[in-house]
Amino acid sequence: MDKELVQKMIALATEQLNYSYAPYSNFKVGAALLTKAGKLYTGCNIENAAYTPTNCAERTAFFKAVSEGEREFQAICIVGGKDGVLTEYAAPCGVCRQVMMEFCNPETFQIILATGREQYEIFTLKEMLPLGFGPDNLA
Ligand code: THU
Repeated sequence: MDKELVQKMIALATEQLNYSYAPYSNFKVGAALLTKAGKLYTGCNIENAAYTPTNCAERTAFFKAVSEGEREFQAICIVGGKDGVLTEYAAPCGVCRQVMMEFCNPETFQIILATGREQYEIFTLKEMLPLGFGPDNLA
């Protein structure tokens, strides 16, 4: 991926930490999702006093995009950490990987994990969800 675009996505995901609603875990997460057409959608985690309704940053971004008609995606950038301090990569949870599997080609969809503008690593969805179950399995 183009480095400038990756850095733009890191900046957008990091900005989302300001909107993260995480009063229970204090673990703030931000995401920036890139469509195949080049449009960016952002998301943050949104917690809940009943805990299970909590929505991860990645799913917030996906659901915002899908609810606006998007169906094709090329990459997502995720940042996160306790109190919004980025010390380690915030890898997507299993549920978010499964949501990615619904809309993305596991061979090509890129997951960018970052702790800073110059500190990032890129994985495919297939690397993060080997042998994933998706729409093709029901075709
Ligand atoms: N979280 C995310 O937003 N994305 C992930 O993939 C991992 C976990 C959030 C959910 C919860 O608000 C907090 O991080 C701690 O689990």
